[in-house]
Amino acid sequence: MSYLIVANWKMNKTNQESLKLITEINNAIQQTSNINVVICPPYTSIVPAAEVLENSSIMLGSQNMSHEAPGAHTGEISVDMISPYCEYVILGHSERRIIYGETNDIVNMKILKALGSKLTPIICIGENIDQRNEGKLDSILKEMLESSLTGVKSFDNLVIAYEPLWAIGTGISASPEQANEACSKIKILLMEHFNKTEKDITTPILYGGSVTKENIKDFLNQDCIDGALIGSASLSSEQFLSIIQTIDTL
Ligand code: PGA
Repeated sequence: MSYLIVANWKMNKTNQESLKLITEINNAIQQTSNINVVICPPYTSIVPAAEVLENSSIMLGSQNMSHEAPGAHTGEISVDMISPYCEYVILGHSERRIIYGETNDIVNMKILKALGSKLTPIICIGENIDQRNEGKLDSILKEMLESSLTGVKSFDNLVIAYEPLWAIGTGISASPEQANEACSKIKILLMEHFNKTEKDITTPILYGGSVTKENIKDFLNQDCIDGALIGSASLSSEQFLSIIQTIDTL
């Protein structure tokens, strides 16, 4: 089985820093490994990073994009601006939802726009700590997934990332069992939405939230976790490559 590992650099790295990091990662990762690596640098580094990765197995993703057509949208990035360089786009990240007010409807419009341009959306869903404590995990996952997938006809070009808000950037990850439980609920929701059996659903389901080289193995050893979305630990080549090396031994 091959794992999908997505690095989300968020609002970090100047162009010079991005190119240094991407070159170090590219030089160290072997084409033959059992891991598909996607790097999501800031917008400003996407084009130069694509040049570095020209003959590489490493793929690029964007951290976000607009659902609007090109035009009067100051400060936004259209799908056409990223799709020549990226294969993936992270959509609905909790930082976009909470800090920038992206609603389920906006996230859904972005997902449909990405799919229309042959970009694979990495759709982030997850509960906050109050929702978890109030026993609302199932209903939150259902609401977020169903609204994301409105109008989506196929599960082929999708990735779902389970990212509990309380684990993002906090250093306190979910336990592997908690993450697996949520990912298995997501799998069932996908089966119901697309009216398919478990073996038909090939959509990778990732876990994200304080993933490190110490805990990556425990997450990937779970039945329903197909990879990881990694923030902080993807910002240094040493940490990120040690995660990749750990996965290589699985
Ligand atoms: P983290 O971020 O690994 O720093 O917790 C994960 C994410 O936001 O996707």
